[in-house]
Amino acid sequence: MAKPRTKTRPAIDTLTKAQAKVELKRLALEIENHDKYYYQEDAPKISDAEYDALRQRLNSIEARFPEFVTSDSPSQKVGVQPSGRFAKVRHAVPMLSLENALAEQDVLDFIGRIRRFLKLGDDDNIAFSAEPKIDGLSMSLRYQGGELVTAATRGDGAVGEDVTANIRTLEDVPKRLKGRNVPDICEVRGEVYMTKQAFLALNERQKAAGETIFANPRNSAAGSLRQKDPSITASRPLGFFAYAWGQMSDMPENTQSGMIKWFERCGFKTNPLTRLCHSVEQLLAFHRQIETQRSHLDYDIDGVVYKIDRIDWQERLGFVSRTPRWAIAHKFPAERAMTVLRDIEIQVGRTGSFTPVGKLEPIGVGGVIVQNVTLHNEDYIRGIGGNGEQLREGRDIRIGDTVIVQRAGDVIPQVVDVVLDKRPKDAKPYHFPKKCPCPLHTDVVREETATGEEGARARCTGEFACPYQTIEHLKLFASRRAFDIDGLGEKQIEFFFEKGWVREPADIVTLEARNAKLKLEEIEGYGQTSVRNLFEAIRRRREIPLERFIYALGMRHVGETTALALARGYGSWEAFHDACLRVAKGDEETIAEMDALDQIGDTVIKSVAAYFGESHNRGIVERLTREVTILDAEKPKSNSAVAGKTVVFTGALEKMTRDEAKAMAERLGAKVSGSVSKKTDYVVAGPGAGSKLAEAKKHDVAVLTEDEWLKLVGA
Ligand code: IVH
Repeated sequence: MAKPRTKTRPAIDTLTKAQAKVELKRLALEIENHDKYYYQEDAPKISDAEYDALRQRLNSIEARFPEFVTSDSPSQKVGVQPSGRFAKVRHAVPMLSLENALAEQDVLDFIGRIRRFLKLGDDDNIAFSAEPKIDGLSMSLRYQGGELVTAATRGDGAVGEDVTANIRTLEDVPKRLKGRNVPDICEVRGEVYMTKQAFLALNERQKAAGETIFANPRNSAAGSLRQKDPSITASRPLGFFAYAWGQMSDMPENTQSGMIKWFERCGFKTNPLTRLCHSVEQLLAFHRQIETQRSHLDYDIDGVVYKIDRIDWQERLGFVSRTPRWAIAHKFPAERAMTVLRDIEIQVGRTGSFTPVGKLEPIGVGGVIVQNVTLHNEDYIRGIGGNGEQLREGRDIRIGDTVIVQRAGDVIPQVVDVVLDKRPKDAKPYHFPKKCPCPLHTDVVREETATGEEGARARCTGEFACPYQTIEHLKLFASRRAFDIDGLGEKQIEFFFEKGWVREPADIVTLEARNAKLKLEEIEGYGQTSVRNLFEAIRRRREIPLERFIYALGMRHVGETTALALARGYGSWEAFHDACLRVAKGDEETIAEMDALDQIGDTVIKSVAAYFGESHNRGIVERLTREVTILDAEKPKSNSAVAGKTVVFTGALEKMTRDEAKAMAERLGAKVSGSVSKKTDYVVAGPGAGSKLAEAKKHDVAVLTEDEWLKLVGA
């Protein structure tokens, strides 16, 4: 452990505003670094007391200068607390999020999609449970034999944190479910929140005590829950509204509204504003009515949620990636504030695209301090953007301008207007860089759109020669959702890259073998333990699931969900790699096959073709695959008769829509293809089936009617 710091720091009450600002930045960095040593490397460099002193100093400065509290300050981070480490809990049923509707049209589209999916006519009644969207923290409460056994945060949706001891202190959470005959396993889900009044009072107390100042009630609820000492949580007034469920050994009700009443009978509070609606007009009226009540409510809400009331319909509709098809969050319009744009910085992304970032005089918008805004692209700044719908027409953005900043929920803050009266006389139109800020100063080009026109995004043409792009790719490669290499954070990657030790992903995997020369343990701040830990973390990843491997390649438009769809579609690296090489060569059949995979379309296929069409990339991939073992993808588990089979639907279906049939087949582990080949197992043909039926006969593929298909899958 490092020696205690001897350097004295100025007393907090003598700090000027400017000194405080600098000191806060420095403390934030220092705390972040120590968090990394502690959490990622399990190798703290200072004692807990010294660490606590750093946080205490940051809290006290923020308490004196609350205007400098930013949403990314260590005091606001939910994930990291001095001594609060919690056990992980894997959710029996994942905790998902909701798709957002901003405009009324989005709500109409949502209902239209449901009608089509369920094959309902315009006159068929659909009942919706309309509920306020509470801006707190979602929580999953697991009851066994009626007793509360675990309370877990959402976490990343799959794995959350065990906060049972703290949740037990909440009055709104029954320790034992009321009523007889409650199902043996019940997971009740809902939102933990802090009232606005309690939040303001808590901040007053925190300020007086020189402790953490929270940016909004949501953060204060999160901070209050992440306490190692439950008596602190108990002293903070937290509420809980129940609105959903996870695993249930038995369903006591068959509607959402019935479940809400059941939660009440079990002893929970549910939101009193929840209503049952029967038409889009009623939903929109609900939205308007709740919006007018919003500022008078004593808890924060950021919209309303509409959920299909019938649970059997919810089940039929299912999910698309991480959001249900049967629910939507209809958000309220964003909140706005005015501030000054101090500067514009260019960030170069992994694929070379430029994002201009506006540096603002920090400003509170909707309870959060904002200091960076995305300015999207050159056209947006010049006020001529096709993508510029958020920016008021006829405006351009200049450094020094007074701007209106808008923030809507989790959406990145935007500049939506420029106050021309306040424009400094000498403000000049912004000149977008023509060269990449990287040391190569490569020329910048405007990206082409899908139709071949000039797009709005500028990109560095340096590709692999542009160090920014390479570094960004290496960061993605080592990141949590890709190779997940503990101890190899962004700073370390930058450092290894600058040293020339890591230029491509395979170099990370071979670090240990090359260490006789590199001698990482001799680098300041590293040491034997952290180098040993790093090598061990890398060794652990020499076996890697296919979906992670695909994601880690960093192909454009291939995020985590797409990578998973590709992995599941092909099963093994060999099959996937072979297909990619064929796609890059323009092989029509392979392209059609890839296109038939769920969630894969033209954009992804073009990107796969571009990536594997490039010999430099093929080299990177080849060198990497020599170093690692890629594990086959887990096929969706299913003991259904159609698991692993390839199915083609053709003609009209009468009992369900094509989308629904496709989703059902995929749920059962079948692969749905758009064209018939000798690899097809079944063709399900309805009235009007044409050439595909003929193809099926040609290849001797089994042809089923819709009823035969339903019988086969046991529906
Ligand atoms: S339902 C499968 N209902 O919103 C989706 N969520 O964006 C289950 N939230 O993580 C969520 N009020 O934290 C639902 N009445 C409500 C809600 C609500 C707030 C939050 C929840 C969730 C997020 C989704």
